[in-house]
Amino acid sequence: MASRSRLSRRNFLVTSGAGAAALCVSGNAGGYTSAEMRARAADNKLTGVSKWELDTPALCVDLDKLSQNIATMRTRVAAMKVASRPHAKTHKCPTIAKLQLAGGSIGICTAKLSEAEVFAANGIGPILMTTSNVTPNKIRRAMALRKSNPQFVQAVDYAQNARDLNDAAKAAGIVADVVVDVAIGTRSGVPAGDQAVAIAQLVDTLPNLKLRGIISYDGGAQHIKGFKNRLDQTLNRFAPSVETFERFKRGGLNTEIFSGGGTGTYNILPKAPGVTDLQVGSYIFMDCQYLEIGGESNDQVYTDFAPSLTVVTTVLNTYFLKSITTDAGAKALTLNKPGPWVIGEKDFAYNAGSDEFGVIKYETAGRSYKVGDKLELIVPHCDPVVNEYDQMYAIRNDKVEAVWPIAARGHSQ
Ligand SMILES: Cc1ncc(COP(=O)(O)O)c(C=O)c1O
Repeated sequence: MASRSRLSRRNFLVTSGAGAAALCVSGNAGGYTSAEMRARAADNKLTGVSKWELDTPALCVDLDKLSQNIATMRTRVAAMKVASRPHAKTHKCPTIAKLQLAGGSIGICTAKLSEAEVFAANGIGPILMTTSNVTPNKIRRAMALRKSNPQFVQAVDYAQNARDLNDAAKAAGIVADVVVDVAIGTRSGVPAGDQAVAIAQLVDTLPNLKLRGIISYDGGAQHIKGFKNRLDQTLNRFAPSVETFERFKRGGLNTEIFSGGGTGTYNILPKAPGVTDLQVGSYIFMDCQYLEIGGESNDQVYTDFAPSLTVVTTVLNTYFLKSITTDAGAKALTLNKPGPWVIGEKDFAYNAGSDEFGVIKYETAGRSYKVGDKLELIVPHCDPVVNEYDQMYAIRNDKVEAVWPIAARGHSQ
């Protein structure tokens, strides 16, 4: 099995759009220092600069692939008669959130309150916060956000939390929208069934809360390898949430939202009755973890969405046999597994375990490398990588078209 997936990954890296060419240039002639890049970015003078001239590690997003992913999601969800409500924890970038909304999404999700505050401050209205806020200060802030942004919806999964939210909403002089988070697995949310129904009934009686429906996300299902396997397990695991949703309906509770799913299950969850929208996150960028799971049309590599997010890194050392050192280590790529994929090279094993250095071991290389050459990497897991950078370079035809601040980067509270 390991060798099969390795073979497919090799093919993917050299034959797909991601790996159409060996992406290396010599030296850094005409390059810019970080200070120059910041100054040029502020002045918009990075426009037109080749991505290979950027100081590295550089987080890049390919605009054609990004647009393709937005368009693909739009077409697919329309065909399945659901909506998309992308999770903005993936990109933390208001510019991308606006592109997603312009591309048909009905809103965004956030995982953290400080993230939600950044998106709201940047003009994003429809925000669903999928994590509960349980401390007095966060509850107060969440209700303040709801007051200034009437489209803010908050998850709740405990009765006492519902009462606390209600009190804070009353103090703020608002009626706040909430969804009951119904657990799949043991991470977060109230268990499906009686306990979930009881919270919904309580919310329904609280004068300063308005029940909007259910969210139910299955983190454990997203990366199940093999489409058929993922399909069967996802629907099985989701069944108690569906039953709970039906009980909400039968009990006359508001069921206008039934949100769940992610990139790995976006084309599975709509098969469950009642689902209104998908909280897809990673589809916008893709990453090695997702490429590895296989899709409906390609059991080896998940090709439904294009890998738009890459890190460009510089070769620092080639003295040692079958070994290359780069400038992108754990702080540029995180420690997530699998290691990054080197575009254009079939046989490179990249280890980002060192803080500031990447170490590549290989048996065969597509070309020879020297100090200053650049390599382009697909990242292990997109969300935590994005959180390492202040900005991403928006690239078209290998040239910088814009520099996008990752405004909610580091907003983890
Ligand atoms: C609650 C919730 N919804 C949606 C997502 C998006 O998932 P994905 O990036 O797999 O599409 C996540 C990711 O962890 C999540 O925690």
